[in-house]
Amino acid sequence: MPESIDAPRLSLTSSEMRRLADHVVALVIERFDTKSDSPIGKRPTKAELEGLFAEPLPAKGDDPMRLIDQAVEQAFGNTIRVDHARYFAFVPAPNHFVGAMADALCAGFNAFAGTWMVGAGAAQVELTVMEWLRQIVGMPDGAGGLLVSGGSMANLTALVAAREAVLGEDFGHGAVYLSDQTHSSAIRALKVAGFAQRQIRVLPSDKSFRLPFSALQAAVSEDRAAGLCPFCAILNAGTTNTGAVDDFETIVPWARSEGLWIHADAAYGGLAAVSPNQKPKLAGLGEVDSMAIDPHKWLYAPIECGGVLMRDFSLLKRAFKILPDYLLDKERDAGEVDFCDHGIQLSRSFRAFKVWLMLKTFGVEAFAESVDHNVRLAEVAGERLVAKGFELAAPPSLGIVAFWHPEADSAAHRRAVDRLIEDGFAMASSTQLKGRTALRMCTLSPLATKEDVEQTVDKLAQFVLASRSH
Ligand SMILES: Cc1ncc(COP(=O)(O)O)c(C=O)c1O
Repeated sequence: MPESIDAPRLSLTSSEMRRLADHVVALVIERFDTKSDSPIGKRPTKAELEGLFAEPLPAKGDDPMRLIDQAVEQAFGNTIRVDHARYFAFVPAPNHFVGAMADALCAGFNAFAGTWMVGAGAAQVELTVMEWLRQIVGMPDGAGGLLVSGGSMANLTALVAAREAVLGEDFGHGAVYLSDQTHSSAIRALKVAGFAQRQIRVLPSDKSFRLPFSALQAAVSEDRAAGLCPFCAILNAGTTNTGAVDDFETIVPWARSEGLWIHADAAYGGLAAVSPNQKPKLAGLGEVDSMAIDPHKWLYAPIECGGVLMRDFSLLKRAFKILPDYLLDKERDAGEVDFCDHGIQLSRSFRAFKVWLMLKTFGVEAFAESVDHNVRLAEVAGERLVAKGFELAAPPSLGIVAFWHPEADSAAHRRAVDRLIEDGFAMASSTQLKGRTALRMCTLSPLATKEDVEQTVDKLAQFVLASRSH
C-alpha cells in the first residue's frame, strides 16, 4: 500500500477557480460590449483551419487560461457571430447577458432537471415557466409542456406524442399535411418518428406562402377515400423563409372537426405573442393541440432553449414514460412532475432558469417592446429595399423580409451573401421561394438599429448589382 495518496490532480483551489472565472467573465462581457461594433465574424475554408486543433490526445495538462485564450482566437474567433446586432441571416440568436449568467450558474451547480426526486426546485421553476409561456401564446388553462434544446426537438417531441395519441403503435396508414414552407425540422421529426415519405403530404403554399385551406381539404378527403388515415396538420406561426403565418382561425376548427391533430411550428413566431401588438397576427394559435416555441429566438435566451406545449399535458407522459427498475425510487406523489417522463431526455439541464430569470428581471413588457422593435425593423428594411430597387417576395412579416433584385440572377444574389460576410459589416442569407432565389433578413436582434438595417440593405444592393454576370 502506498503511504499517501497524491492530492487529486483534477482539483483547483478557490483562488485558481476565481482567476479562471474572472477571466471567462471578462471575455463574456467584452463579447457583449462589442455586439454592434465588431466585425460580423469569419467563414474560413476547411483548408484554412486544417491543422488547428489537430493535436494528439493530451497526456499532460496545461494552463486553462492559456487554452481559453487559444480557443477564443482560433475556435470562437473562426465563427460568425450569431449574437451580433447586424446578424440578419437565418434566425439570429441574439442572446442576453442575464440569460448567459443563468446558464453559467446552472452549469456551475450542474443542476439536474430530470426527476422531481433530485431536482424538485428546478422542476417547479420549469412548471412556472411553461405556465407563463402557455399564457403568452394563449393556450387554454391546463395546457403544459417542457423545455427542450430547440425547435427541432420540440417538433419531434410533439409529433411523437401526437402519433401515439392519435394512431397508437400501428401508424403505417397515418397521413400528415404541411405546406412547402414548413421548416425542415418538422419533416425530419416525422422521419425520425417513423413516417415514410408517402405519408407526408407537402402541399404547395399559396402566393402569401401560407398553407392553402382548399388544398388541405382536398388532400385530406382524397386520402380518406384511398383508405389512409389523415391524422395531423402542421401549421406555421412564422415561417423561416418569410415569417408567414398560416390561417389558424379557419383551419383549426375544420381540422378538429375532421379528427386531425393540429401541431403548430411556432418555433420562430409563437413568442412574438408576448407583444399585444403582434398577438392578433397569431390569431387562433392558442387553439392547437401541440406547439413548438423557441425562447432562444424571441425571448433572446441563450441557445439551447426550445419548448413544447401540449393542450393535454398528460399525453407527453403517455408517449414517453418508461420506468426502469433503477428509477423506482423517484415514484412517490402523483403531483410530482418528472420531466424525464415527458420527453426524450433523462439527464436534462435546468433550461427554465434562464427564461425565469430573464422574464423576472425585465418583466414581460420589456420583451413586448423589443419584439415590436424587431418587427418594425423588418418593415424599415422593406421600405429601404424597395427604395433600392429590390422587390419584396411578400410584405415583411414578424421580423422577416425576403426579397430579390429584378436585374440580378440567382448567382448574383448568392454571391452577395458571401460578399457581405467578407465585408464584415453584417450578414444576411438566401433562400428559394417558388423556384426563385431570394435574399432574406431576419431582424431579431434587440440591439439592431434602423441605421444597421438600412446600411445592410445598401450594402446588399451594392453587392448584388456588382455580382451580376455581364
Ligand atoms: C420555424 C422554425 N421551426 C423550427 C426551427 C428549428 O429550430 P432549432 O434550430 O431551434 O432546432 C427553426 C429554426 O430556425 C424555425 O425557424
